[in-house]
Amino acid sequence: MVVQITPLTKIQDVVERYPGIQAVFRAHGLPCASCHVAAYETIAAGVALHQLNLGLLIEDLTAFVQTGIVPEMRIKPRAKRPLSGGKLSAPSIQHVIAVMSGKGGVGKSLVTGLLATALRRGGLRTGILDADITGPSIPKMFGVSGKAELRERRFLPQLSSTGIAIMSISLLMDNERDAVIWRGPMVTGAIQQFFCEVEWGDLDYLFVDLPPGTSDAPLTVLQRLPVEGVVIVSTPQQLAVSVVTKALKLAQRLQTPVLGIVENMAYVLNPVDGSRLEVFGPSQGPALVAESGAPLLARLPLDPSLTARVDRGEIEQYHSPDLSELEQHLLEQLKAVGSEVGVSLEV
Ligand SMILES: Nc1ncnc2c1ncn2[C@@H]1O[C@H](COP(=O)(O)OP(=O)(O)O)[C@@H](O)[C@H]1O
Ligand SMILES: [Mg+2]
Repeated sequence: MVVQITPLTKIQDVVERYPGIQAVFRAHGLPCASCHVAAYETIAAGVALHQLNLGLLIEDLTAFVQTGIVPEMRIKPRAKRPLSGGKLSAPSIQHVIAVMSGKGGVGKSLVTGLLATALRRGGLRTGILDADITGPSIPKMFGVSGKAELRERRFLPQLSSTGIAIMSISLLMDNERDAVIWRGPMVTGAIQQFFCEVEWGDLDYLFVDLPPGTSDAPLTVLQRLPVEGVVIVSTPQQLAVSVVTKALKLAQRLQTPVLGIVENMAYVLNPVDGSRLEVFGPSQGPALVAESGAPLLARLPLDPSLTARVDRGEIEQYHSPDLSELEQHLLEQLKAVGSEVGVSLEV
């Protein structure tokens, strides 16, 4: 039986129907949710008693039912928590790299997928944390679906066909197509839980696919996760330099090195004579390199065969000279900045 959660729902009914949901009540300062007192209380009554935020509690409870995610503490902790200086740690992950772009639709998720695929081909253990909570697209391009398993209160990532570990909000939803409409703190809480409370196993590189722009979520990732560097994705047709500059500024402000730039949709290969058609205008690569001081790792073509692969969930089966170049340049750059496997970069 599905219990529709409203202010008039009895706390006890919710607790009985959804094991583990007490943690959400606890996060809101309602520790009595699992005790007998709750049997007589509606959610609204409990909230009134404790002077809590009813709307936010209902939102969090509903999110838990959909995904199993427990929000961060919603009430002020008695003791002051350490400020953002404290980074989260996941000892089994050697290196964390975030993928950013100034705006959406430039192929950031696709490039994240290709980066993880490229290093995996080189025999490294890679994973992807899909931090785009409102527009997750990583599982689909790898053809993974179904719900992530919970083992000893930790989620297991899904493994792709070549063994890339993947965690995304869409692997926690009952229906992949359910839209996630969450407030900022819920989003940032979920990202942090994805990092700390997922059983990633031993990984050489974890790539984080950030949502577009420079809002709360990218900020949280760069502040709280031990990100060694960012890869910035751009395309020639947008006002590339000005949009990328925003992302660069954010990275600089948070003292995160820029490892490289990937220029996506840089050209289309003319099937007739093999020439390169720069349909979105001339490359902005040199300007971006000058602006960031980081290398251009690759210029990827707009390739219909890549779109087809991605749509079929077969991104790992895509091969092209540009992708090989991306792999080679990325490995060289990681070596140059001391971020090889087994070496931890001090930032
Ligand atoms: N170089 C490319 N060649 C073909 N299709 C691409 C390329 N880059 C991106 N796409 C397609 O464009 C769409 C948007 O890409 P996506 O990676 O989801 O963008 P973002 O994460 O920046 O919003 C996807 O359907 C993707 O498969
Ligand atoms: Mg995306």
